[in-house]
Amino acid sequence: MAPRRLAAAALQPKEFAFTADNLAWARAQLTKYPEGRQASAVIPLLWRAQEQAGGWVPEAAIRYVGELVGLAYIRVLEVATFYTMFNLAPVGRHHVQLCGTTPCMLRGAEALKDVCHRRIGEQFHVTADGTFSWVEVECLGACVNAPMVQINYDFYEDLTPESFGRILDDLAAGREVKPGPQIDRQFSAPSGGLTSLTDPALYNGSNGRQPSGATQPQQGTPATDDSAKRPGEAASRREEPAPKAPAGDASAQHQSTRRE
Ligand code: FES
Repeated sequence: MAPRRLAAAALQPKEFAFTADNLAWARAQLTKYPEGRQASAVIPLLWRAQEQAGGWVPEAAIRYVGELVGLAYIRVLEVATFYTMFNLAPVGRHHVQLCGTTPCMLRGAEALKDVCHRRIGEQFHVTADGTFSWVEVECLGACVNAPMVQINYDFYEDLTPESFGRILDDLAAGREVKPGPQIDRQFSAPSGGLTSLTDPALYNGSNGRQPSGATQPQQGTPATDDSAKRPGEAASRREEPAPKAPAGDASAQHQSTRRE
């Protein structure tokens, strides 16, 4: 990873202050911490400063946040320079964080880096039209979908140089892009199809017992986004409805009495 230094003085604004809305938000954040622990708000405040400044943290913002949370400038500078989520120089409208850590490296991150070099230039360079910039970062926690990049707030995974190039083309042209895996797989489900827990008898209430003559379910069918659980859906939606108690069953009677 390249050394993380503040942007050249010529790029630094002289001053920084939160907008009224952001200041009200920041003050509310400070109240979330016990008295004397307001310094704990340094990361969310730096993050908000970065958003307000257009995607990077000017030095004046580091000083400003330090004053708000009661930390020495050097302490806030240490935080801002440690975490790659904070950009220390202006970035493009689409800022690419490319994971170069071992799993992504083994799965083709070097080829993605070549795409960045060809399409964008050196790290921290902003293209002339202000569209792109990129930086190599350490593991972003999506190793199972390696290689991957984060562009602004979204992850793009299971990339090849071709699919990554297409995403950059689409972003440059203002077309909609689909975050997540760029191959036909659901989230981080096995790309070649499910290999375990594929037997419905394991979750349909039969406690793993197969009725005689039952056939084993097909393995190797890839799970796709279409089969994904939708927001708000119960996690147990694949389960069979609970069997009804036989007519005349005492517990059924008890339940109907309770309902009345
Ligand atoms: S190694 Fe790339 S996301 Fe973990």
